[in-house]
Amino acid sequence: MKKRDFIKTASLALGATVLPLSTWSCENPESILRTAHIGVSNMGLEDLKAISSHANVVVTALCDVDSNALKAANEMFPKAQIFKDYRAMFDQISDQIDAVIVSTPDHTHAPASLLAMEKNKAVYCQKPLTHFVSESREMRKVANEKNLVTQMGIQVHSFYDYKLATSLIQGGIIGKVSKVIAWSNKNWGYDGPAPEGTDPVPENLDWNLWLGTSKERPYKDEYYHPGNWRKLMDYGCATLGDMGVHIFDTPYNALELDVPNTITNECRPFNGYGYPERNIVRYTFDGTAHTTDSFEWLWYDGVDGPNITDELVLPEGEKLPGQGAMFIGEDGKRLLLPHFMELPKLIEEESYKTYDIASYDPENTLGEPIRDYASESPKHYHEFVDTCLGKSTCSAPFEYASRLTETILLGVIAGRFPNKTLNYNKETSEFIEEEANEFLKGDQRVF
Ligand SMILES: NC(=O)c1ccc[n+]([C@@H]2O[C@H](COP(=O)([O-])OP(=O)(O)OC[C@H]3O[C@@H](n4cnc5c(N)ncnc54)[C@H](O)[C@@H]3O)[C@@H](O)[C@H]2O)c1
Repeated sequence: MKKRDFIKTASLALGATVLPLSTWSCENPESILRTAHIGVSNMGLEDLKAISSHANVVVTALCDVDSNALKAANEMFPKAQIFKDYRAMFDQISDQIDAVIVSTPDHTHAPASLLAMEKNKAVYCQKPLTHFVSESREMRKVANEKNLVTQMGIQVHSFYDYKLATSLIQGGIIGKVSKVIAWSNKNWGYDGPAPEGTDPVPENLDWNLWLGTSKERPYKDEYYHPGNWRKLMDYGCATLGDMGVHIFDTPYNALELDVPNTITNECRPFNGYGYPERNIVRYTFDGTAHTTDSFEWLWYDGVDGPNITDELVLPEGEKLPGQGAMFIGEDGKRLLLPHFMELPKLIEEESYKTYDIASYDPENTLGEPIRDYASESPKHYHEFVDTCLGKSTCSAPFEYASRLTETILLGVIAGRFPNKTLNYNKETSEFIEEEANEFLKGDQRVF
């Protein structure tokens, strides 16, 4: 659905005539957005609750390949029409949908979102935007060509502390940034070799639809659905794709980075099924207005946390948070951004220093810190709905999200070539190392 092109009134939801665009007004309290939700349990349920908490949203359709998940969501929204195949949903009721929320495992993000965009729908897609680099590029292209409202599901992007960190960094609080070190101690998901044998597919699950465009594979209990697919290369994007996309978002946004020049991943050899469980990924980028002439980003994941160098030692013997990012300025000043819902901390000469927030936010655009996830989290979703209704602008549209995702996925691909530096040509969007290029895209099964 094109920006400002799906202006409806509440009466439309009941089947009345579409109003011509000229009759619509942002001020019209009756304007509504009719949403379809693909994937409605776990994060999909959170997405459903957050989107539907906007007063102008009508949940029109729910889609899930797990009938138990679908039934539970349908009990919350009994008027919504239900589907197990998103293709059937678009075939049957595309004209009743304005916006689509995609909350499936990563390998289904692009197939479902691209079909929605083909039908001119606004799309809110969970992070990381896609499973393959080629898909991220395609989603950005289609969104731009069709001028669609889009947003990636990185809700912390709209949280107070992250926006403050962006203002501080862009306001020069630590001078030009030479390096960011980021880390996550998350280690969830199986990463061993492929299991032997097969289990009966549960009655509530359509395994063929769950696999979608990925290759056929025997079903095994507790390896895939629900939620266990994250560290499996055919479905997820490893911890870097899972948490890195949140934690790298603020540095990426604040420093206005593009895709990297080189990527090196120190990890165990690839086993062809699960991603390595511990990754140390080093990226180099061209400098920007906010960085030194060249810039380095270092990522650690796994329970051991980052290697503690001087750059990560905190004042007063304080322990590093389990997840976060440290910005390092050219003159040694540092800014710690814990993940999440804590103020960024300025460190100078091995001590914490206070800073005057008002001087970095003179017009008080940031508002006040909210320390309650349930109140803070809907902001990002409501921004999407309000943009659809012509009242706001999405802060993580696919134009931005696709480049962030591409950068993240290059580090994931580098895990297939442990300890080898890969060189990326941003003009051709290919690695110089020919052998890595096949992983930028993947085969798409017809299902
Ligand atoms: N933004 C965040 O903070 C955050 C947090 C958790 C997860 N996520 C993202 O949300 C997405 C879902 O993660 P999850 O942990 O909820 O996964 P999950 O496996 O627990 O749930 C996925 C749901 O999608 C359904 N599904 C799978 N394939 C489908 C298809 N083809 N059509 C319709 N429904 C389908 C499943 O049946 C299930 O109900 C992932 O992309 C993940 O990265 C984001």
